[in-house]
Amino acid sequence: MASKKRDSWSSNFGFIMAAAGAAIGLGNIWRFPYICGENGGGAFLIVYLACVFLIGMPVLVGELLIGRKAGIGGAGAFSALIKKNKKLWGYVGLLGILAGFLITSYYTIIAGWTLEYLWQSFMGNVATMDAESSKNYFDTFMASNPRQIFWHVGFSIITIAIVSGGVSGGIEKVASILMPVLLFILVGLALFGLNLEASMQAAGSGIAKSIDFMFHPRWEQFTAESMFQALGQAAFSLSIAVGTMVAYGSYLKKNENIANLGAIVVVMDTMVGILGGLVIFPIVFAFGLDPEAGTGLIFVTLPNLFSQIPGGAVLAPLFYILLFFAALTSSISLLEPCVTHLVDAHKYKRIPATLVSGAAATVLGIFWIVSSSLEQTGLFTNIDKFISNLMVPTNAILIAIFVGWVLDKKMLRKELPKTSQLYFDIFIFLCKWVCPVVVTTILIRGI
Ligand code: ALA
Repeated sequence: MASKKRDSWSSNFGFIMAAAGAAIGLGNIWRFPYICGENGGGAFLIVYLACVFLIGMPVLVGELLIGRKAGIGGAGAFSALIKKNKKLWGYVGLLGILAGFLITSYYTIIAGWTLEYLWQSFMGNVATMDAESSKNYFDTFMASNPRQIFWHVGFSIITIAIVSGGVSGGIEKVASILMPVLLFILVGLALFGLNLEASMQAAGSGIAKSIDFMFHPRWEQFTAESMFQALGQAAFSLSIAVGTMVAYGSYLKKNENIANLGAIVVVMDTMVGILGGLVIFPIVFAFGLDPEAGTGLIFVTLPNLFSQIPGGAVLAPLFYILLFFAALTSSISLLEPCVTHLVDAHKYKRIPATLVSGAAATVLGIFWIVSSSLEQTGLFTNIDKFISNLMVPTNAILIAIFVGWVLDKKMLRKELPKTSQLYFDIFIFLCKWVCPVVVTTILIRGI
């Protein structure tokens, strides 16, 4: 046993910022708004919220609990809590770490795009693009492997440097600064969107349309595929079943109220997704653009907008800083489970553990960049779909079964001493029945 005391979060605030930073990412600001709009607006939102609170939250609390109780992260956390089938459940832990590692390898590619746009916006090049030049710019950038690799490697180095600094000295410190700044910019941009709308003579269309686009239920657009998307998005956005919450839980002190912390993180993540939509759509609607532009919305549509908006030269860098911070606090959390596992299970020191896992994820990312430009079908997109929509939900089912059926209920109750009996019973019921049954059904119907 290592004699050195295990690192831990130095404050509640620090943990919340780190865990909310893990959850709040590109998934909220870039992916959630347009997926919501494409899949029936309010209809998607209702199902998404049900997935978040009935499936995501119990799994997230369950993972924090597993990590905290075991006092270690990774595969060992699962096997440390049981007497039988230790190896088998250890594989469930490993599956999460593998998912987190694979997501890191391509998350840092998209995060690299935000760096390219941040750089270009600082150089004053983004706010001068018209519709055609912004499209050409994005296509040329996508076709340039060296430039994508450059930013991917650059972003990965920043991630590795922070994770090397440790939990309290690296991740917590960075998240405690970046998250408040991120929230401040987000609220500022939302207010700007409202103000822009008010200042435009074009009649109150932007806000009203955005609210309608995001909140009005259009059930005719909601399909079985939408259900699959809602579940995948909830799991991806909350960062459940990727090893993060088990690892983060393992650094929590014994007296922390896990149920409350989990609820705060879930609510913050959901609010930021909605706020992200309220930042982007009023501007999009005010200019009569296509809200369903998908991936291109942030990298093609918005640069064109920044050239037309008053103050666009300032707003563009602010917006890409927001994206960069959101991506960074998430990428560090996706790499951390692998690092925690190497440290806990294989007795690596933190810095070599971070270098090994970070370098491996970076090399794999380079492979995705090269292969997706070689292969028109987009191996990269299929990998994302396979991991986010299949591997992560499957692991979520297994974690729910582990908490609901395998772990000792008395032990679980002791880990949640400050919660009411009713909350505890609901938590167990959700893990035992709702998560496994609902997620399996959605997966079978969606495949
Ligand atoms: N939860 C992170 C996101 O939403 C991975 O981007």
